[in-house]
Amino acid sequence: MSNYALWFEGIYFPAAVYEPEILREVRDKFVVKDGDTITVTFPKSGTNWLIEIVCLILSKGDSKWIQSVPNWDRSPWIESKMGYELWKGDKHPHIYTSHLPFHLFPKSLFSSKAKVIYCIRNPRDVIVSGYFFLRKMKITEKPETLQQYMNWFLQGKVPFGSWFEHVQGWLSMREMENFLLLSYEELTKDTRSTIEKICEFLGKKLKPEEIDLVLKYSSFHFMKENKMSNFSLLPNDVINEDFSLMRKGIVGDWKNHFTVAQAEEFDKIYQKKMAGYPRNLFPWEEC
Ligand code: A3P
Repeated sequence: MSNYALWFEGIYFPAAVYEPEILREVRDKFVVKDGDTITVTFPKSGTNWLIEIVCLILSKGDSKWIQSVPNWDRSPWIESKMGYELWKGDKHPHIYTSHLPFHLFPKSLFSSKAKVIYCIRNPRDVIVSGYFFLRKMKITEKPETLQQYMNWFLQGKVPFGSWFEHVQGWLSMREMENFLLLSYEELTKDTRSTIEKICEFLGKKLKPEEIDLVLKYSSFHFMKENKMSNFSLLPNDVINEDFSLMRKGIVGDWKNHFTVAQAEEFDKIYQKKMAGYPRNLFPWEEC
């Protein structure tokens, strides 16, 4: 892991894409503005799906933008080198994305009215999705087995650190009115209502036929074919040629990959670490 790793404040970042000076500057100097819309997730929780939905809401279902501009330019990850170059220039983005844990996010958020949409996903599915993702990445150590990846995940030795700390950190904002908590599971179960909820949070009134277009262009199949959204524009020194961000796009794939022993081991740790949180915060707990 060492050749690939950058450790910053105890959090693991892929060294090819992140720099300590930038991470420090983002935390201390990036100015979050009142009108900003920020998508925040632990990686593999549906980040790109949410970006697509937000972009389509802002363009009232018109697909021109999402089909002509890569998602990392439409809603840049402010902590990446690429995102940093954008905002260090004179282009302060008004919609952006972040995987940063709560304590590394720009401090200026807390004195702003910017809107944060935080999306969570069953960590078991996050593990499976992350495992297959890292198997195709060239800038991080490749896990040999799901068990190895699960061990890294439980130790917080995966990009952006511990899922548990990430979720717990961001959930501390859950009572604030500029914070919307969503889950991959609710997005999957009732996509339309969830899109309407996002519209309401953003103060955007869309006509039913515009919502139809948001649904259509943010669908798994449409995004899979859209090279501005499926990561196929990433250079091949970063990913394998057969990589697809849009892998399965389902809830509960972990059941196809975890052994009974792995499920039990995960459960034990999960219950211990998440004790104290109401179960109804997490849709996967209701199954
Ligand atoms: P799987 O690997 O389980 O298929 P992120 O964007 O945070 O990296 O998350 C990637 C996961 O979101 C992948 O999950 C991907 O398939 C899923 N995803 C992306 N767009 C989606 C969509 N439109 N509908 C459903 N799932 C989607």
